[in-house]
Amino acid sequence: MKHLLPKPRIAVIIAAAGKGERLGGDVPKAWRDLCGTTLLERSIASFQPPSLQTHQQICHVTWMGLAVDSEYVQRARELTLSAQDPIEVVEGGATRVESVRNVLARVPDAIDVIAVHDAARPFWPVEKWDELVQEAWKWDGAILAIPVGDTLKRAEIAGMVTVDRHEVWAAQTPQAFRAEMLKRAHEQVSERDAIATDDAELVRRVRGAIKFVYSSPRNFKITTREDWKFAEQVATMDNAIRVGTGYDAHRLGSDGPLMIGGVRLADTGGLIGHSDGDVLLHAICDALLGATTLGDIGTHFPPSDERLKGIDSRHLLRETRVLLSNAGYQPSQIDATILAEAPRMAPHVDAMRMIIAEDLALSINDVSIKATTTEGMGFVGRGEGIAAQAVATITRSVT
Ligand code: CTP
Ligand code: MG
Repeated sequence: MKHLLPKPRIAVIIAAAGKGERLGGDVPKAWRDLCGTTLLERSIASFQPPSLQTHQQICHVTWMGLAVDSEYVQRARELTLSAQDPIEVVEGGATRVESVRNVLARVPDAIDVIAVHDAARPFWPVEKWDELVQEAWKWDGAILAIPVGDTLKRAEIAGMVTVDRHEVWAAQTPQAFRAEMLKRAHEQVSERDAIATDDAELVRRVRGAIKFVYSSPRNFKITTREDWKFAEQVATMDNAIRVGTGYDAHRLGSDGPLMIGGVRLADTGGLIGHSDGDVLLHAICDALLGATTLGDIGTHFPPSDERLKGIDSRHLLRETRVLLSNAGYQPSQIDATILAEAPRMAPHVDAMRMIIAEDLALSINDVSIKATTTEGMGFVGRGEGIAAQAVATITRSVT
């Protein structure tokens, strides 16, 4: 067995030059938009930071090349312009083997391991990357694969025959190989091999030893329209629910009305603030923005903005909803607590829930408001101010 390579120099080849005939549609499969991002963009991003780093992977990609349909070369170049490291864009061939070979010809010499990935697999388990690379280096190659769970049948003239599924695995991508091994395999491709649907088969034919790395059924290849529908469900589920928290406190003692949750609780003695000082609505805005990683209320509605002086905070809440919507999200649930010594909030809580539900296009049952005193303790207890905290749950808007 060869030694582990502490820092292998890795090239990634993305095969994206297919027509996607079985899927159909106006654009080749790799250029189809899956919940806001094309399959090709998803593949590229999966091999770049922060994707690999998020999973604490230590094997970093040093070079990347794409095979794309001849009509999409320019578009791919434009797409990759903003990448941190340059990405080579190459015209694909008539078969997958040809497409991979075209990119292989551009891989720099100083590369230890080459991984090949199908753009048609947007959900590969990134956390398996280090293992895949290290196993490829240890042996000659390693591929992501899963043992076949179904009973396998072959249709024969005499009827259906069960195929022994013992030791049968479904091969996926990425597949990684020692660089010289993959190059040799592709140099020796015969006419018959040219239709091989994966690189492991070519490497095997030049006597390469290949290891399975246990993968996940999530890493299915999008081939048909049914696969696409399933992929949409997976992609939607992936970022279905996000959560944010918010907190705000204001000092009591303004001449204006006391506004909490959009309800006028008193005509004077309100909260001091640049806007109407509605701590509850501000905490909810912050929770919503936090869930979307869009910063906070000060980022979007700065105290320096004269137009916001004394503004009704419901306006800020509705604007926050627009910001969420532009980012592709919608509020789904709010839970908040008001911390105040006085006045009693309970009689007003339902009115607040109604207002917030209306501004966020939610049902009143998705908005929970609670109130508590702090039993005389702290600034709230001394009646110096009122505070509020909120948790917001948001979901991706279905487009
Ligand atoms: N591929 C490629 N060059 C080809 C054919 C396929 O780069 N000449 C790539 C595809 O873009 C895909 C992967 O190989 O990412 C797996 O191929 P497949 O799922 O068969 O995709 P398509 O060939 O695009 O689909 P179809 O066979 O239905 O036309
Ligand atoms: Mg194909």
